[in-house]
Amino acid sequence: MTSDFSRRISGVQPSAIREIFKVLADPGVISLAAGSPSPETFPAAELAAVSSELFAQRAGAALQYGITEGYGPLREQTAARLRDKYRVGGPDDDLIITTGGQQGLDLTAKVLLNEGDTVLCEEPSFIGALNCLRATGARLVGVPADEGGMDMEALARALKSAVRPKLIYTIPTFQNPGGTTLSAPRREQMLALARQYNVLVAEDDPYFELRYTGQPVPALKSLDEEGRVIYLGSYSKTISPGLRLGFVCAHRDIVSKMIVAKQVSDVHTNLFFQMAVSLYLDRYDFDAHIAACRALYAGRLDRMYAHVNAWGDRVSCLRPEGGLFLWCRLPRGYDGAALCRLAGARKVAAVPGSAFAVREDEISPGFRLNFSLPTDEQITQGMILLTQALEELLETTKN
Ligand SMILES: Cc1ncc(COP(=O)(O)O)c(C=O)c1O
Repeated sequence: MTSDFSRRISGVQPSAIREIFKVLADPGVISLAAGSPSPETFPAAELAAVSSELFAQRAGAALQYGITEGYGPLREQTAARLRDKYRVGGPDDDLIITTGGQQGLDLTAKVLLNEGDTVLCEEPSFIGALNCLRATGARLVGVPADEGGMDMEALARALKSAVRPKLIYTIPTFQNPGGTTLSAPRREQMLALARQYNVLVAEDDPYFELRYTGQPVPALKSLDEEGRVIYLGSYSKTISPGLRLGFVCAHRDIVSKMIVAKQVSDVHTNLFFQMAVSLYLDRYDFDAHIAACRALYAGRLDRMYAHVNAWGDRVSCLRPEGGLFLWCRLPRGYDGAALCRLAGARKVAAVPGSAFAVREDEISPGFRLNFSLPTDEQITQGMILLTQALEELLETTKN
């Protein structure tokens, strides 16, 4: 049988990262590839306690259908935390619980974009978002970024020259894969440009609470007075990704359209887990939990960065102030995918930069390393093997 697939999905390639997950099924492979948090951070005992209470006392509600916008108490707790701690969300905003941050991206694309609309985003960027945007038939235009995040002069040029730019998609804090954070002045500039060209901004912010050094920078959404910023968040990196709990805080008109789109997609996010996380947030000290995650990951970043540092100027790599990734770049002319193949032969997985390229045919000198999932021993062993792969690449393909 041959299938005539929709134009919408035919052009979308499977995420290279999800494909790498298959390689990782080999227990002998050291993964520096995934974007996963460490299972050591999962509050399993606490979730077990609240889950058994739910089954014992509120099974009827927890196992029933729920409302699309999300479980009321969890919506309120999430909105209150964003508002009181980070000044995210105003009187005209509303909040919807989504099935992971990924669904927030999908709903954003579904409610805003028509085929042919232009979306501007950092080059490189998160493949899961790029594929969501591509699936709507949007045209993606990559805007270069430097150590301070997206380049505002380049953004201004892109806004000026693009046909009907509709959305700026950005990961301003601990960008995936770049690790960069958009400086506060650039945040103001981005909002001013968005206002000038009347485009919306999708601020994808799943990592901001995982800061290890430096000073926090205000969320774009906290600087937004016009309802122009759609704030996308997630509990994946701070509680657990398997729960699939994310949220969107945006102007209520946008959220009400998202509710309609979500009804069509999955009716509502898993109610049992929404109730479990709501109880968890109520009973336990979430900030202390995040502080423990930060302490663990800061140590792992130090350990991995020491190896990268020893590569000297053969590889350029920004030391990120937070997040889960190191973004490394080989000298000009070298291909990050070639390094990842050599590493794979040594049973170490890293993600080639081409997986994050806005232009899919691009050869990238970049590669992304993750330091949250591997243990200390795996980081040491993995980086020794990766260093051997790097030496082989530089030796055999001198350019
Ligand atoms: C930048 C970014 N946005 C969104 C997501 C989606 O995460 P989730 O759907 O697990 O909340 C990820 C996951 O890695 C990400 O890196």
